[in-house]
Amino acid sequence: MSSGDGKKLVVLLCHFLLVSLPEASQKTSCRIQGTKADCSRLSLASVPSDLPGNITGLDLSHNRLSQVPPASLAPYVGLLDLDVSFNSLTSLDGGLCRALPRLQTLTADHNEVHVIREEDLSPCGSLTEFRLSGNRLKLKGEVFAGLQSLKFLDVSKNNLNSAKLGSRPQMPNLVELRLGFNTFSTLAKDDFALFSHSESLQVLNLESATIKTVEPGSFQPISHLHILIMDGSNMGTTSISKLCAALSGTSIRKLSLQRMKLVTLTNGTFKELRRTNVTSLDLSGNGLGKIEEGSFRWLGKLDALVLSDNNIKHLTKRTFEGLDSLKQLDLRKALVKSHTSATPIIEDFSFQLLGALETLCLQKTTAREISEHTFAGLKSLKYLDLSWSSYVSLKTISNRTLASLGGSQLLKLNMTATAILQIQHGAFSHLRNLTHLFLDLNFIKQTVGGAEFQGLDRLQELHMSFNHQTITLSPASFVGVPLLRVLTLSKSLTAMSLNLDRSPFEPLSNLAYLDLSNNNIANLRANLLTNLVNLKVLKLQHNNLARLWKDVNLGGAVLYLKGLENMTSLQMDNNGLDEIPAEALSGLRNLRELSLSNNLLNNLKDSVFDSLTSLKVLHLQRSLITAVRPQVFRVPLANLSELLMDRNPFDCTCESILWFLTWLNTTNTTSVPGLREQYMCNTPLAYFNRSITDFDPLSCKDMAPFRALYILNSTLVALLTAIALLVRFHGWRIQFYWNILVNRALGFSDTTPEKGQQFEYDAYIIHAEVDGSWVERALMPLEGNACKFCLEDRDSLPGESQLESIVENMRNSRKILFVVTESLLSDPWCRRFKAHHALHQVMEASRDSVILVFLQDVHDYKLSRSLFLRRGMLRKRCVLHWPVHKERVVAFRQKLLIALGTTNRFPPLL
Ligand SMILES: *[C@@H]1O[C@H](CO)[C@@H](O)[C@H](O)[C@H]1NC(C)=O
Ligand SMILES: *[C@@H]1O[C@H](CO)[C@@H](O)[C@H](O)[C@H]1NC(C)=O
Ligand SMILES: *[C@@H]1O[C@H](CO)[C@@H](O)[C@H](O)[C@H]1NC(C)=O
Ligand SMILES: *[C@@H]1O[C@H](CO)[C@@H](O)[C@H](O)[C@H]1NC(C)=O
Ligand SMILES: *[C@@H]1O[C@H](CO)[C@@H](O)[C@H](O)[C@H]1NC(C)=O
Ligand SMILES: *[C@@H]1O[C@H](CO)[C@@H](O)[C@H](O)[C@H]1NC(C)=O
Ligand SMILES: *[C@@H]1O[C@H](CO)[C@@H](O)[C@H](O)[C@H]1NC(C)=O
Ligand SMILES: *[C@@H]1O[C@H](CO)[C@@H](O)[C@H](O)[C@H]1NC(C)=O
Repeated sequence: MSSGDGKKLVVLLCHFLLVSLPEASQKTSCRIQGTKADCSRLSLASVPSDLPGNITGLDLSHNRLSQVPPASLAPYVGLLDLDVSFNSLTSLDGGLCRALPRLQTLTADHNEVHVIREEDLSPCGSLTEFRLSGNRLKLKGEVFAGLQSLKFLDVSKNNLNSAKLGSRPQMPNLVELRLGFNTFSTLAKDDFALFSHSESLQVLNLESATIKTVEPGSFQPISHLHILIMDGSNMGTTSISKLCAALSGTSIRKLSLQRMKLVTLTNGTFKELRRTNVTSLDLSGNGLGKIEEGSFRWLGKLDALVLSDNNIKHLTKRTFEGLDSLKQLDLRKALVKSHTSATPIIEDFSFQLLGALETLCLQKTTAREISEHTFAGLKSLKYLDLSWSSYVSLKTISNRTLASLGGSQLLKLNMTATAILQIQHGAFSHLRNLTHLFLDLNFIKQTVGGAEFQGLDRLQELHMSFNHQTITLSPASFVGVPLLRVLTLSKSLTAMSLNLDRSPFEPLSNLAYLDLSNNNIANLRANLLTNLVNLKVLKLQHNNLARLWKDVNLGGAVLYLKGLENMTSLQMDNNGLDEIPAEALSGLRNLRELSLSNNLLNNLKDSVFDSLTSLKVLHLQRSLITAVRPQVFRVPLANLSELLMDRNPFDCTCESILWFLTWLNTTNTTSVPGLREQYMCNTPLAYFNRSITDFDPLSCKDMAPFRALYILNSTLVALLTAIALLVRFHGWRIQFYWNILVNRALGFSDTTPEKGQQFEYDAYIIHAEVDGSWVERALMPLEGNACKFCLEDRDSLPGESQLESIVENMRNSRKILFVVTESLLSDPWCRRFKAHHALHQVMEASRDSVILVFLQDVHDYKLSRSLFLRRGMLRKRCVLHWPVHKERVVAFRQKLLIALGTTNRFPPLL
């Protein structure tokens, strides 16, 4: 690389840094919100001049200001709050408050302000809050004297070597003073003298000051002090006594003495507090190992005592002596066992003097045992927290373990994670007032027969989740707790627990919240929840309930949610559900939240969610849903406020997704988090792994008219095909009936046959010459009484032309009878004229007027070609076959006579 390239690179880099760093902080100019301007973290070297003149708050923190000239603030004369913390200011100009006469809050933490003179702050009379921590203050004279309205002053972390901020009385309204993290080691008598003329100071924070000596009377000037915070100031036991002596006679209420290495408390440590009314004492994190008996005897007004995070070895009957008013005792992690120390001991009756105690927290404590006298005397106790503690005695809770609580009025007992293995009969029977019992995260392994909870007839909440799936229920499990409203059994039940003839929940008609999740339940009865008329929340996620809703389930689907009309929230995620019966969710009219994520719901039945008219939140993530069809989703999506259906393998075709996308576009009440990033197409290939919002709805819009056209087209084609086929194979029939209709319409119909017309012959016989002998043989014998035939050869009048004779004779015959043979069909005379005439007769007269007698089997096609007649044109009885068997000839004749004797009328139907 040449040096020229190198320079270019540097220039580019600088450019990149300059341009992109402000961008990286996502803000390039001040953000105005209402009347506040946020100009923090903009690398500003001066106050921006282009902000609205009417702002009241200006945040200039985390910039590079080294000074704030009053003139630069002049445009913002209405400013109430100014924050210039985390800059490089070395001084505060007196003109600042003059430029901003209404300023109330000035925050200048973490700068390099060194010297402040009285005149710098004298114009700041309206200031109420002044923060100056983390500077290098060197106070000369009565610096704060002008701050007449100041209520809050923070000068912590300034390396101040004295707590004295002035000698003249000043800051008459100061309420809170922060002086912590400074280097002074002595609190001198007159340090707070400047506050002696007011009674307003209430809170003094000396956190992490390195105070070793507290001179007597140093708090006298501020005797109205309520709260003193000394946390982390490493005073040690002897200095504490001096501190207490200095506090004697003050109004101190709350004393916070955390992390001060108070390893031992003696009966004298707090002696000097006897002439105070301290109500709250916090001694946490002191490594406290030993508390002498009577150490607290001086604190008769104490209301709350915090001893958490210590290392107390031994509690005796007299440890808490004198704490007659104590209401809260926090012993969280106060008694612990380490590798080097023995297990702490809580003696019997250790708490007996705490008659007013209402809350006792023994969370994460260890002691050798809890006996039947440990909690004796706690007659006001309402809440006992034993969670995460380790007491061998709690492994098996017998009817004596907690007997000492019998005299209390305990409402809540927290035994979460206390390594309980077994609960014996009547274990809680002394706790008549108990409303809340927490037994989560234990190792309870037993069949709950009911006697375990005997006596808890006021219990409202029973929490027994996470018990390693070793609890077995029985029909009587909860008979003793009829008022139960909350029951949690997540990850606690054995597989058989819910497969009982009588539901264990039957007595719980008040139950509103039931958690049965994470139990691997595969079997339950349809009546399991029947009695829970007040159930609102049901959690069934992480079970194995798929089979119960399958059609193929033995005995049909088990509809265990039937009748739970008051339910508002149902969770059935992770159940392997691949079928939901149409009626499974019916009746859940009030359901507001339904969670079905992580199932296999690619085949939802139509209308399966149609009862869910109140639904607000629907979870269907990762459920293999491919199509969002209106038949399934129209109702549940109608009033939704939140839909979570991400990470499904959507099929991005018009059929599957268009409706959903249209709904998404039109809904303005439902939020669909992650729509762009988490809703991806899986099919078809063209859209694979693209957001469903990329789907082009226009491709479907074009299809609508196309589809209509397509349907129309195909219908037409089908129709035409059908007509063509019909015409091809039955055209003659159509033509024939058409002709008949026309004839009838034109009045040639025989519907009223001429009553009086007399026929000379019964039938005019047409036959081929060669068939003359058959006519002789078969038909002539019928002549006589039965009927009379007309034969051309025999009956034509001599002299008449052949044509006229035929026409005349046909007219005189009631019927025309064809003797059909191949020869007849090939006889041109017969074909051309006689047949034509016969056909006319058929049309004009009736279908009955022609009789076909087949001597041979002749194809219909040939028949129509030669005679223009088909078998189908005629009545069935007018089509006769000359029998092969002689014995049937009689029957043939009979038929023939019937055919000849019938009327020529059409049936009225046609
Ligand atoms: C402040 O002034 C700006 C114009 O500079 C104006 O748009 C805004 O409405 C004003 N706000 C108030 C609260 O007066
Ligand atoms: C304080 O304890 C000491 C022994 O440690 C004892 O002699 C003294 O009597 C106790 N004082 C009170 C007031 O109990
Ligand atoms: C403590 O309270 C009592 C009344 O409860 C009161 O008489 C006494 O003056 C108070 N003591 C101090 C130091 O405030
Ligand atoms: C405790 O249970 C034992 C049997 O285990 C019984 O004899 C005793 O009466 C019970 N005590 C109480 C107070 O219920
Ligand atoms: C019971 O103890 C557990 C664990 O310490 C805690 O999370 C829970 O909030 C407690 N319950 C109540 C009602 O205080
Ligand atoms: C405890 O129950 C008794 C009656 O059994 C009742 O008198 C008392 O007020 C209850 N205590 C509380 C704190 O509810
Ligand atoms: C719904 O709850 C009410 C009381 O909150 C109850 O009266 C009603 O019977 C319940 N409905 C059903 C169907 O259980
Ligand atoms: C939804 O709206 C966007 C923008 O208005 C539009 O581009 C898109 O085609 C619409 N989608 C549907 C399915 O209507």
